[in-house]
Amino acid sequence: MANRFEPLTTRRSLLKTGAAATALLAAGRPQGRTVARAQAASQVLRLPATALLNPTGPFDLGLIGGGVGIPPMIFYAETEVASGAETPWVIMGSELPFPFATGPAQLALPGVPESATHGLTRLEANGIPNRLATLAGLDGCFPGYVTGLADALIGALPEEQRSQVALYACGPTPMLAAVAALARHLGLPCQVSLEEYMACGVGGCAGCTVEVDTDDGLAMKRVCVDGPIFDAAHVFTSPPLPEPAETPFD
Ligand code: FES
Repeated sequence: MANRFEPLTTRRSLLKTGAAATALLAAGRPQGRTVARAQAASQVLRLPATALLNPTGPFDLGLIGGGVGIPPMIFYAETEVASGAETPWVIMGSELPFPFATGPAQLALPGVPESATHGLTRLEANGIPNRLATLAGLDGCFPGYVTGLADALIGALPEEQRSQVALYACGPTPMLAAVAALARHLGLPCQVSLEEYMACGVGGCAGCTVEVDTDDGLAMKRVCVDGPIFDAAHVFTSPPLPEPAETPFD
């Protein structure tokens, strides 16, 4: 994909974390930094807490997870840090109590509303700034969608910094569509990890196909073997994305 961030070359589901996910990464299509990430992932769970209480950025890799997309985004964020890559910022959304411990966030993030006081303590312990969003009235969470929180954060960055942001998202399809719309609205690159019902999981049944805009026009792609990572702008094209004025982040 045409952005300065390495595409997520691993094509296997990242719904499992820790050692299992390490094995999945290694069984994917290891290329370049992905190899380093796979090797480093084995150490993720032993990472010491860091003292990065006031990170200054560059805040140019944003990870957004919702629902079932929360664990893989935790894994990816921790793997990025363990591999020595830049530290991403993370936004998680859930309408149920979060499946990981939450608590007051100490790592600064620019622009986040005062209501967003909590983060996942596991990410905090690994020096990864993060905040939470929900419509369910959970303690310390931004009372809205993950896109509203992301929009506030990105909007607070200096113009030059803002244009460098790239978004990776994993979660329910409506959330991915909203993140894709935000990325398009802001002119930012975005990759999404899709989930579909899968019968065979190895490319044989065509039960997991989605319509993707390719260089040769619209084509049906299998999420299980052609994805699950796609350029958001190539997936969320039909029905058309809402006009910017209709998006929830205006
Ligand atoms: S699940 Fe059968 S082709 Fe993807």
